[in-house]
Parts: sequence; C-alpha cells; structure tokens
Amino acid sequence: MSGSPRFASAPRTGCFALARSAAAIVACVALAGCEQVMRDMYEQPRFDPDEATQLFDNGSATRAPPAGSVARSRGDVAATTSGRRGVEAVEAAQAAYARKKLPPITAALLARGQQRFDIYCAPCHGIVGDGDGPVVRHGFPAPPSYHVDRLREAPDRHFFDVVTNGHGIMYSYADRVTPQDRWAIVAWIRTLQLSQHAQVDSLPARLRARLEAAR
Ligand code: HEC
Repeated sequence: MSGSPRFASAPRTGCFALARSAAAIVACVALAGCEQVMRDMYEQPRFDPDEATQLFDNGSATRAPPAGSVARSRGDVAATTSGRRGVEAVEAAQAAYARKKLPPITAALLARGQQRFDIYCAPCHGIVGDGDGPVVRHGFPAPPSYHVDRLREAPDRHFFDVVTNGHGIMYSYADRVTPQDRWAIVAWIRTLQLSQHAQVDSLPARLRARLEAAR
C-alpha cells in the first residue's frame, strides 16, 4: 500500500542478537535430545515375530500359545472380551454394513464393479479373471484363476476379505477400494465366473436357440 508507514527492522547487533543466537543453540541441543529419545523408542532391544534366538530350545523367539488358548479374534467371547470387539467380529460387521448399504444389483452396479475391477484387479487377474493380466505377463507371480472350483465355490465374503486384507503376496486394496466398491467388484467377479461357466440349461430359450444354431 503506498503511503503506509514502514517499520525499520530491529537492529541485528548487540544484546538482542546475542540472546537470539543463544536461544537457537539451546533449541538445537534440546531437539537433538528429543530425536535421540525417539530413536531409542523405535530401536528398542526386542524380538520380532519368529526372530532367531538362543534363549529357547527351538531357536525361535515366538512361543507357542499354551494348549487350549483361544485367539482374541475367535471363540465365543470374541465380541466381548475386555469390552473390545475381536478383529473378526469387527470385520464381519463392517462387511455386513457395507453390504446393507449396497444398492440393488442392477446393470449399473455391475458396470461400477467392472470399472473398479478393470482398474484395480485386471492388471494382475486379467480382464476375465484368468490370472494372466499384463503385470503377470511382465513377471509378477500369477494369481489363481477365478474359474477354478475352489474359488467358484468360495463365499462372497472371501473375495471381499481378500480385497480388504490382501492374500499371500497380494497386498490389501482397503485404502483404494471402498467397502461398497468391494461388494460391487465381488458382484462383477461372480458375473465373470458365470460367464466362463454358464450352464446351457440355465440360458433363456432365445439364447439357447442361438447357441444351438451356431453349433
Ligand atoms: C499386483 C497384482 C494383483 C492385483 C492388482 C490384485 N491381485 Fe488378487 N492376487 C494376486 C496374487 C499374486 C494372488 C495369489 C496370492 C497368493 O496366493 O500368495 C492373488 C489372489 C487373489 C484371490 C484368490 C485368493 C485365494 O483364495 O486363493 C482373489 C479372490 C483376489 N486375488 C482378488 C483380487 C481383487 C478383487 C483385486 C482387485 C481389487 C485383486 N485381487 C488385485 C495379485 C494381484
């Protein structure tokens, strides 16, 4: 703004400057101290799961749970132990909630599932789910085909859970695919499975006639 008063900056010599430098040095030393404490916290002397050790006869730092132990996420008290809900119970509730929120399975929903599948899954699983996507053709380990009996018979939740948690070397897509989109993808995978394994008897008469004519 023209005409507004200008303030001269404080002189950078004398006591004031000295005090400032001293404060800066103290701050640096204090921060360096904090950094050391943080580092000590990260690098505690502790064992990682299955780390080797000579402490125990079997050479592993991981101890077998005593006979009769029940994982916190399993068993009758999974949803109640210490007022905390077991991981499996939480996952089941989240999956059920997203399923309830899913709009009815229409062509539009399948189109959404197909679009998400083509973006996030087809690079490895292939456009029809054969497990031969371009990433695999470039050397990534091949996933199983969706058209094997085991995966055709697997429940819907299995596919949902694989996207949520990952599976073996496949990593989780939970941060990229929303729970509702996961269900849309499951619907599309079911469509792909049907497309590769349709029973002639289950086709509408019109399509069956066309098929017979093409034979
Ligand atoms: C980077 C490659 C890659 C991408 C992308 C990918 N997967 Fe996978 N997927 C794999 C591999 C590899 C396996 C086999 C993992 C194993 O058994 O160690 C697998 C396994 C699976 C299985 C089979 C699990 C079983 O019971 O054997 C399902 C279902 C699956 N993926 C679904 C999906 C879905 C849905 C998406 C997209 C949201 C997706 N994957 C994206 C690589 C990928």
